[in-house]
Amino acid sequence: MREDVKIAVETLQRWGVVALPTETVYGLAADATNEFAVRKIFELKGRPRRNPLIVHVKDLARAEEIGVFSPLSRRLASVFWPGPLTIVVPLREGAGLSPLVTAGHDTIALRAPAHPLMQMVLSLSGLALAAPSANRSGAVSPTEAAHVRGSGMAVDFILDGGAAERGLESTIVMVSDDEREIFLLRPGPVTVEAIEGATGLKVKHAAQDETAPVAPGALHKHYAPKARVRLGVTGALAPGAGLLAFGPEAQAHASGVVVYQLSERADPEEAARRLFAGLHWLDGQGVEEIAVRPLPSSGVGAALQDRLQRAAAQTAETTGSEPETAGGEQG
Ligand code: TXA
Ligand code: MG
Repeated sequence: MREDVKIAVETLQRWGVVALPTETVYGLAADATNEFAVRKIFELKGRPRRNPLIVHVKDLARAEEIGVFSPLSRRLASVFWPGPLTIVVPLREGAGLSPLVTAGHDTIALRAPAHPLMQMVLSLSGLALAAPSANRSGAVSPTEAAHVRGSGMAVDFILDGGAAERGLESTIVMVSDDEREIFLLRPGPVTVEAIEGATGLKVKHAAQDETAPVAPGALHKHYAPKARVRLGVTGALAPGAGLLAFGPEAQAHASGVVVYQLSERADPEEAARRLFAGLHWLDGQGVEEIAVRPLPSSGVGAALQDRLQRAAAQTAETTGSEPETAGGEQG
């Protein structure tokens, strides 16, 4: 067995907090049944206690010990797991999780991740792992071990699994009690189009339906780089500006603009994989503003737009005067 995987497993079994790779972003993981370890996650992130955590499991069988799956939720799990889909289901009585994990809700968000190292840790430890993204609350999510190190959080161990393959946090869905509706709580790598294709049902967004459930963490500030973010920028930029490019950018390179190329061939999947790394990198370059070229909005583009709009809104909020009520949940 890989020595680093062994250390990760032992650290988790001894109430430690470990940053682990998943196919979406790096997670800050702890034994979901251990109150002490889960509390440490909230403390390291500075995360509001009312924002619940996703629990990661090896497979559907393990998930069913923790949550109650309706036939439709089970179908979603069997189509998309292991993979970047989180399913919110009623919490099973006696599941034994630390109450901090669910933040007082009677539902639980569950996911079986596909990353081989994460799978190994889940199998070898036998644990269900509570794991939010491994960034300080409100900051840009990490897609590389170096991003976690750079955050300065005093985690007990970092398992380095290279760059995350998908690059955006999992899609979160919840099925209505009558099994007729699927609500989208957070867009992500598993697209609405794919979910509709697999189920034959129309996916509803919280924005389209006031009664739809929301992810507490999706309400407000998130994904804030230090630089200001400006979206949909076309045309030339001043020298020294930061640019998230999508498609060829020969001119900008020549004119002293600091360019991070999301995808030279304008591929949305590649842009999704590279978005957070680009925000981290441009912040590291010390640019004051990050201009973003127009990006597609269908397929995984929906998740790209979601994350970028939050990043841009955050910078708008912190530069303006922010009413007390607008503060809130972060992830
Ligand atoms: O890809 C991912 O999902 C990553 C990796 C590490 O798995 N994790 C992640 O966790 O993004 P976090 O904590 O950054 O985001 C979890 C989101 C939050 O918005 C939280 O409010 C929501 O899931 N959530 C958790 N439990 C919930 C529940 N019972 N009902 C509704 N939303 C829930
Ligand atoms: Mg997060």
